[in-house]
Amino acid sequence: LLPIVVANWKMNGSLGLLNNIILNLKAIEELTVVEIVICPPSIFLSQSTQLIQETKTNIKIGAQNCYFLDSGAYTGEISTAMLQQLGIEYVIVGHSERRKLFFESDIDVVKKVLSAQQHGIIPIVCIGESLAEREQQQTFFVLDRQLEMVLAQADFVDPNRLVIAYEPVWAIGTGSVASVEHATQVHSYIKAKVPTGVRILYGGSLKPDNAEKLFRQADISGGLVGGAALQAKDFISICESANRVFL
Ligand code: 13P
Repeated sequence: LLPIVVANWKMNGSLGLLNNIILNLKAIEELTVVEIVICPPSIFLSQSTQLIQETKTNIKIGAQNCYFLDSGAYTGEISTAMLQQLGIEYVIVGHSERRKLFFESDIDVVKKVLSAQQHGIIPIVCIGESLAEREQQQTFFVLDRQLEMVLAQADFVDPNRLVIAYEPVWAIGTGSVASVEHATQVHSYIKAKVPTGVRILYGGSLKPDNAEKLFRQADISGGLVGGAALQAKDFISICESANRVFL
């Protein structure tokens, strides 16, 4: 199973950054054993797929969100059928920002997961507890709830076709990365629940100086990177850390 490093740009970046990052990543890609996925804002998806074709790189492009129906009167939404047309290979589903700011429920999440899989797109399903939930010792309860429908309904015939990202909400954009102990405990818990072969990524304040330590843990198969993915140098450094660990 290929380890993955995923860049989630959120609502950041530009066409200039896209060019810059893809050209810089291309320079290191022969050296990498990890799969590298860039998830820019949807307005840049089309140019992103063109650029990876033109530059003949193995970098994959992912979307940050999708809707679960193929078409219809859903102003502002983008379907997995449309993503498929562009050759998008991954989609982030259920990011904590979508759950919190855009009120996505566990039911929305599972619908999106199924729709992505039906269109040959690999969902990266984000789960994770908030600070309050953690303080109330609810972490495993929350993860169980977030995973329940996905585990019951998603297609695991090829376990490669679904990725889980553990992103503790208190570590996202805060600079306080999860400790190795916490991450190891949670990843091994998730690992025991999901079918063998499903990759589990860590996300939340991953930086060049902490990524390698986390990637070295047994049940961590890569990372989902926010802020540090907006600087070519930092993102490449994280990809190189993954490469050293997984080689
Ligand atoms: P940061 O790396 O900025 O903490 O964001 C993590 C994240 O939410 C990735 O999806």
